[in-house]
Amino acid sequence: LSSKILIKGGTVVNADHQEFADVYIEDGVIVDVRPNIKVSDEFRVVDATGKFVMPGGIDPHTHLAMEFMGAETIDSFFSGQAAALAGGTTMHIDFVIPVRGSLSKGYEAYVEKAKLSCMDYGFHMAITKWDDTVSKEMEIMVKEKGINSFKFFMAYKGALMINDELLLEGLKKCKSLGALAMVHAENGDAVFEGQKRMIELGITGPEGHALSRPPVLEGEATARAIRLAAFVNTPLYVVHVMSIDAMEEIARAQKSGQKVIGEPVVSGLVLDDSTLWDPDFITAAKFVMSPPIRASGHGKALQAALSTGILKLVGTDHCTFNSTQKSIGIDDFRKIPNGVNGLEERMHLVWDTMVESGQLSVTDFVRVTSTECAKLFNIYPRKGAIRAGSDADIIIFNPNSTFHISAKSHHSKSDTNVYEGRSGKGKVEVTIAGGKIVWENEELKVVPGSGKYISMPPFNYLYHGIDKADENYFASFKAPVNRIKSSL
Ligand code: URP
Ligand code: ZN
Ligand code: ZN
Ligand code: ZN
Repeated sequence: LSSKILIKGGTVVNADHQEFADVYIEDGVIVDVRPNIKVSDEFRVVDATGKFVMPGGIDPHTHLAMEFMGAETIDSFFSGQAAALAGGTTMHIDFVIPVRGSLSKGYEAYVEKAKLSCMDYGFHMAITKWDDTVSKEMEIMVKEKGINSFKFFMAYKGALMINDELLLEGLKKCKSLGALAMVHAENGDAVFEGQKRMIELGITGPEGHALSRPPVLEGEATARAIRLAAFVNTPLYVVHVMSIDAMEEIARAQKSGQKVIGEPVVSGLVLDDSTLWDPDFITAAKFVMSPPIRASGHGKALQAALSTGILKLVGTDHCTFNSTQKSIGIDDFRKIPNGVNGLEERMHLVWDTMVESGQLSVTDFVRVTSTECAKLFNIYPRKGAIRAGSDADIIIFNPNSTFHISAKSHHSKSDTNVYEGRSGKGKVEVTIAGGKIVWENEELKVVPGSGKYISMPPFNYLYHGIDKADENYFASFKAPVNRIKSSL
């Protein structure tokens, strides 16, 4: 099989411009991008006339093979990535969960899981406790293991949740390492209280999940995390922004000049909470994720925020549990494993919801699905661009074809799909990952072990708009006030 490919006659789209050009690929790398490239017979020529040639999607937020709430997500690194490739996503960043608080043990476990990979991936890491060992291990992760982002869960009381003291330690440590702090922003203590209230009222079904953790608790935690990040003077990334309440806190902070990045996820953009009241348990439970899917006005507002640039990149929080696993919570919504699918559907649904509706341009589509993520996590222009020298992770997208979503035809191992029955304009017809055609004519050609780990270097503080790493809130208070003792 030829490792030389020419994509001919398409419109090449990058985040900053589009142009008619051919793309010459050899040994996994883009060699040239310009009109009318002539090649020899050994090239596989792919006709892209009338189609868009775009960087493969990068999903900043996934959970493959994660042990969570008494279950393990049904998609492995192989099945989840295969699904991703069929939907035009060629890289994802997954969250390493420490093992009993140990970062190195968690890292080793994820290295093992990821050996099945059929596309490129990177790691974020969750921080679930605090001591000198954790602090030291964070340093090792950044300096030796290629991890430049750490996530703090402000919810999941009794499991992953951290308190403000730990969050502050974590923010300071991230800042000193040039790592990006990420938060799951919900007030976990109040959620716990809300859940008890629902059970006392006899509301044990999936609707209790949404009722127990309303938008105000997401807004509160988002505001608190933002203010603590301001206190430390370090950037903050808010994962899965699901509500107007959280989005408005992010907008306010940005207006004041603070570096806060908000990540909407596909479920929050396109779904609404009505399904949680479905009388069939599984039909409702498959939509249970945290923060919960909100009433429809929230999704519309998040779309507008993505359109105007308050929110800058779209993830999925792909975290799939099948019907049997969701049934663990049949008598108590608190036991339903939290999470929904999205890796395979993200590109199509963002196109349909944002581009077809006129809320984003085609170049903006590339920015929010790929380039922004590559820049933010410091792997641009190796990823997120179609230009000479970049990795050959490319999709050919036909804007005149249509996509259809169903659990019957998707590539995730889950038996349900929260987007069941949806269809719309636009279709990923070809996916090229690492210079190989892995998706074509509705067929996947993927090999376990072919995906590479993408090391993500620590940040240059200038990128985040902070001049000096040591500049902080306390700088103006360096000299103590010289009190006059006699005044006593
Ligand atoms: O419900 C969710 N979001 N499950 C995945 C874990 C997390 O909070 O991101
Ligand atoms: Zn150009
Ligand atoms: Zn989360
Ligand atoms: Zn998540």
